[in-house]
Amino acid sequence: MRGRFIVVEGIDGSGKSTLAARLAEDLALRGRRVLRTREPGGTRIGERVRGLLLNADHSEMVPLTEFFLFMASRAQLVEQVIRPALRRGMDVVCDRYYYSTAAYQGAAGGVGIPGVLHIAEKVARFERPDVVALLDLPPATARARRSGPGDRVERKGLVYQKRVRQGFLSIARRERRRFRVIDAARPVEEVFRDLRKAVDRAL
Ligand SMILES: Nc1ncnc2c1ncn2[C@@H]1O[C@H](COP(=O)(O)OP(=O)(O)O)[C@@H](O)[C@H]1O
Ligand SMILES: [Mg+2]
Repeated sequence: MRGRFIVVEGIDGSGKSTLAARLAEDLALRGRRVLRTREPGGTRIGERVRGLLLNADHSEMVPLTEFFLFMASRAQLVEQVIRPALRRGMDVVCDRYYYSTAAYQGAAGGVGIPGVLHIAEKVARFERPDVVALLDLPPATARARRSGPGDRVERKGLVYQKRVRQGFLSIARRERRRFRVIDAARPVEEVFRDLRKAVDRAL
C-alpha cells in the first residue's frame, strides 16, 4: 500500500522542523516506516540549489529566480526520494513543499499563487500530499523564537513574513480538504497534539 504523504508548512520559526521531527518519531514508534525530508534540499543536487537560495550574499536574487530554483530542487526531490518512498509504502513527512513557494514567491514575491500552484500541480505534476498541516502564528511571535541574524529569506523582515502568512492562509481556504490550520503560538505539546489529530485522520 502507498504510504501517507504529510507536509508541514508555515512561516520561518513557526516550529516546522521541531514538529516534523516529533511527528516522524511518533509514527515510527507506532510501527510505521517513515521518511523525513526537508525543502529545499534533500538530494545531492537539491542541497546545492539550497546553497544558492539561502546564501545571504545573493541579495539581488529576484522572486522569479527563487521560484525556478525552488521548483528545480523540488523536482529532484519528488522523483528521487518522495515518490519512490511512497511507492514502497513508507510515510513521508516533508518540512515545506510547493505551498511554501506559492506563499513566498507567489503571494509575498508577486509571482502569484495561482501560477505557482498551476505549474506545481498541472505542469510538474508533483505528488499531492494527503495532509498539509499549516503551523500558523503571528510573524513577531515566530521572530522572537529565533536567535542570530537568519538566512537571506529570513532577513526580509516582518512585512514580508506577514504577506507570506496571509498567502498560506489563503491557500488553506482554497484547499480545505487537504489543509489543517494549527495555532502554532502555543506550547509545543499542544501544537503536537493537534498535528497528530490531523495526521491520524489520514492514516
Ligand atoms: N510551540 C513552540 N513554542 C515555543 N518555541 C518553539 C515552538 N516550536 C518551536 N519552537 C522553537 O522555535 C525555534 C524555531 O523552531 P523550528 O522548528 O526551527 O521552526 P521552523 O523550522 O518552522 O523555522 C526553535 O528554537 C524551536 O525550538
Ligand atoms: Mg526549519
